[in-house]
Amino acid sequence: MFTVDRWGGNPKGLPNPVKGAHMSAQPLKEVRIFSPATVANVACGFDVLGFCIDAPGDEIVARFSTTPGLRITKITGDDGRLPLDSKKNTAGVSAHALLRHLGKSDLGIEMEIHKKMPFGSGLGSSAASAVGGAFVVNRLLGDPLTRRQLLPFVVAGEAAADGAWHADNVGPCLLGGITLIRSNAELDVMDVPIPERLWAAVVHPDIVVLTKVAREIMPRQIQLETSTQQSGNLGGLLCGFFKSDYALIGRSLHDLIAEPHRHRLIPEFYRAKAAAMAAGALGFSISGAGPSVFALCDGEETARKVAAAVAAVFSSVPIKATPYVSRINPKGVHVLSES
Ligand code: HSE
Repeated sequence: MFTVDRWGGNPKGLPNPVKGAHMSAQPLKEVRIFSPATVANVACGFDVLGFCIDAPGDEIVARFSTTPGLRITKITGDDGRLPLDSKKNTAGVSAHALLRHLGKSDLGIEMEIHKKMPFGSGLGSSAASAVGGAFVVNRLLGDPLTRRQLLPFVVAGEAAADGAWHADNVGPCLLGGITLIRSNAELDVMDVPIPERLWAAVVHPDIVVLTKVAREIMPRQIQLETSTQQSGNLGGLLCGFFKSDYALIGRSLHDLIAEPHRHRLIPEFYRAKAAAMAAGALGFSISGAGPSVFALCDGEETARKVAAAVAAVFSSVPIKATPYVSRINPKGVHVLSES
């Protein structure tokens, strides 16, 4: 099991709960948050690049209770797949890690998780729960830590689900926008500017791909030339984001490492890609570990056309396909209500 001990740390060490405090004027009793979907890898940034979209997303409620310890009292929308045991549940693991760090493990807190995004979808479902769990508890306690300081706890939550230590889903879910992870071990994470006209078309074909399985089929070694091309594309993509250069974004959106192996897990992948490009996408690839796919587009109108064209390919097989069209969401996880 991965824990925050797996984190290599950065020169500042674990966050100081006192220095980060922004206490509310009134103590809170209950908080409800929304934790959105994310697209990880973004073609050429395997494990190091991700962005946040508006929907779908999970809702998590936390409230104080007189029974000591953190308990998950209810999970909806998961078809009974997720554990109620808070030490095994992704949202519980991140919240426990935070409470342990704050020295508040005995505090009575009950949590409800309302899953509103599909499981094994490539939309960052487990990351949304991991982020939501720590974020909602931190908020209930009056924000003792900043968002950025929650990173090691939410990565630990996600690692409990897929057995790997990477922040390309939790980073953008927690911080919003586009996130580059220079080092997953050190959690050296940075925000990348969002080009104003950049829209995402994301389509979820209704099949399940487990991240663990999608990671197992990745190559263990890659050719030097492949690595060189992938680095060039990642650099080009980041320059494209910084300069709002849509043509450069399009030229750079290629994945030479994961897509050549993982496309096999997604029926009709190359037909969907051809349909997206014909409809005007800047580029198209797999969202996270799949099976969802995504395209980046210049403008909302193109993104809607691309999403419809890709969904039509899956529907023709037939596989039920759900399209999501979104600007890059700058906000990330946020409070819906509190009292
Ligand atoms: N970077 C991860 C992967 C995202 O592609 O395996 C999925 O969790």
